[in-house]
Amino acid sequence: MKTLLLSADIENLSLASKLLSEGEVVGIPTETVYGLGADARNGSAVEKIFLAKGRPQDNPLICHISSMEMLSDVVSKIPEDALLLAKAFWPGPLTMVMPKGEKISPITCAGLDSVGVRMPSHPVALSLIEKCGFPLAAPSANISGKPSPTTALDVFEDMQGKIPMVLDGGICDKGVESTVLSLLGETPVLLRPGFVTVEDIQGVLGKEIQISQGIVNELSSSEPVRSPGLKYKHYSPDADIFILDGCLEDFANYVAKNSDQFTYALCFEGEEEKIPCKCLSYGKKEDDSTQAKKLFSALRELDKLGAKKVFARCPDKEGISLAVYNRLIRAAGFKIIKL
Ligand code: TXA
Ligand code: MG
Repeated sequence: MKTLLLSADIENLSLASKLLSEGEVVGIPTETVYGLGADARNGSAVEKIFLAKGRPQDNPLICHISSMEMLSDVVSKIPEDALLLAKAFWPGPLTMVMPKGEKISPITCAGLDSVGVRMPSHPVALSLIEKCGFPLAAPSANISGKPSPTTALDVFEDMQGKIPMVLDGGICDKGVESTVLSLLGETPVLLRPGFVTVEDIQGVLGKEIQISQGIVNELSSSEPVRSPGLKYKHYSPDADIFILDGCLEDFANYVAKNSDQFTYALCFEGEEEKIPCKCLSYGKKEDDSTQAKKLFSALRELDKLGAKKVFARCPDKEGISLAVYNRLIRAAGFKIIKL
């Protein structure tokens, strides 16, 4: 199959909407990362997403909507907390898990009786869903296990020959996937951290939320998994990544003793001069949103550079940094060295 990489102008939006209506898969920009979209109601369309990504069948997809009216087509019940949070954060990078509506294919939700929903804020995503008139199931548009794509070219590299079209809507503004929050029980549970932070959510709801164990720790195989996505290895470049948790001076000393010509340091901007090996930066130490925006593109770049071993500076674990930390520990296969 030939894959078209096209700018998201009006004509190409119409072509994308036509392909989606016919049950095809299209690479689409969102403000978080690029997604692989298909009609969430159409099981055979959604199956093509799983196939293109090589995604395990038991990992459910998020449904993307463009209006609150469309929400009623996706879920069977709208919890009160969902209305408050939608008002505060939609359109935007928050996915809420609610009871599944009948119109959504069971394949979209991997057989679960719940569904993750979000209204993206990227204008191309919003107008495309509106044009289609149906919700789009869309996981991140990477090959399963690889870093999520933040440019249309990243999607093209992973999906060339597997899908008919990628819509180019520029570099993703946020750079990490949406916050995922389950609203199935009495107390909301954070399943994946993102740009909408724990503090943001608690501020709106006026109550504490629960934070799933798998966010900052490796789940043991005996623990129950609330979000199937938590159990898979994720975001991994080919290189072996080690997170070094300590100050810059200790980091530099460790790197000096343990690197060779294929080693890279994944550091913060401005630290390069102090580190005695090849460096690639991922944002500013004091600015977690720049780290989020650059992390996945840096992970992809390390592969292109031929890195075999990577020592990464450790992000904080609060606010947006929690999302960065969550992705980086998965990319590192949970290898953290305390300095
Ligand atoms: O920002 C994003 O969320 C991007 C863009 C494209 O919107 N999408 C994305 O999708 O990251 P994906 O499939 O890569 O991640 C979805 C996560 C997975 O960890 C999945 O297990 C979880 O959401 N999820 C989806 N539906 C769920 C459900 N019903 N119950 C629990 N977890 C769910
Ligand atoms: Mg993903």
